[in-house]
Amino acid sequence: MTTPHPSPTAAGSGSSATEAFRAGRSATGGPAVAPERVSAVVSSLLSGIHQTIRSESVTYDEFQAAKQFLIEVGEGGEWPLLLDVFVEHVVEDVAARAQEGTKGSILGPYYLPGQVRLESPATLPQRPDEKGTRLVFSGEVRATDGTPLPGAELDIWHADDEGYYSGFAPHLPEGNLRGVVVADERGRFEISTILPSPYQIPTDGPTGALIEAAGWHPWRPAHLHLLVRADGHRTITTQLYFAGGEWLDSDVASATKPELILEPVDQGDGTSVVRYDFTLEPA
Ligand code: DHB
Ligand code: FE
Repeated sequence: MTTPHPSPTAAGSGSSATEAFRAGRSATGGPAVAPERVSAVVSSLLSGIHQTIRSESVTYDEFQAAKQFLIEVGEGGEWPLLLDVFVEHVVEDVAARAQEGTKGSILGPYYLPGQVRLESPATLPQRPDEKGTRLVFSGEVRATDGTPLPGAELDIWHADDEGYYSGFAPHLPEGNLRGVVVADERGRFEISTILPSPYQIPTDGPTGALIEAAGWHPWRPAHLHLLVRADGHRTITTQLYFAGGEWLDSDVASATKPELILEPVDQGDGTSVVRYDFTLEPA
């Protein structure tokens, strides 16, 4: 099949993701990590690597291949992709030990702050000929004690019908399928958009080459990304998936959870409808 536009490259997505990451950090890079933590965490990390070298009898050839791989990940700006796909889910698991409310999931590399604010009911910005099944996604945002949270914000972004994210694929208009939807005076929201397609890690860069070399697959199941915010409450970073979707049981980023799977109902007119409520704990 031919597509009317060139596929985004790993280097393009990677360097945009690196830029977005840098832009999201304060000038000082955030709070300093205490020397004892640096020492404890890095010692443990290195001992895991040393242990792997011994138990797998890693050869010089393999060590040099690893060095070359790491150099290429850096050159391609692919660190945000690689770390978010293979590592972030465990950081999220650890953070979740102390959290109540709606289950979280990884942020991933493609969040862009500062998107258009839209009062609910809202339609996400999209091309006039945006392809894909229409999706109407509604629900309520409440506190863990059940109180509705008026004016809660749902910062939502997702891939298009071809699995590409605006801001990272040059053929897509800026802000496409991204927005900050403001819930009404009873914490209710309704968002009209399209169903995203599964996302494939770009296969032309080092992360793709690693996946290929290991005989794994590069797919994430279709998903919506959300940050749900309300004054005085902890912001939820999460993703929602679709029942029956491909790759749900083998997400390359290991970021699915049974509580985060939507079951949209086809209305018979090309539109799918689904409800999902969010629960936020006091900050
Ligand atoms: C990656 C991309 C995503 O869309 C996502 O949700 C998580 C990870 C990645 O390419 O690393
Ligand atoms: Fe994603």
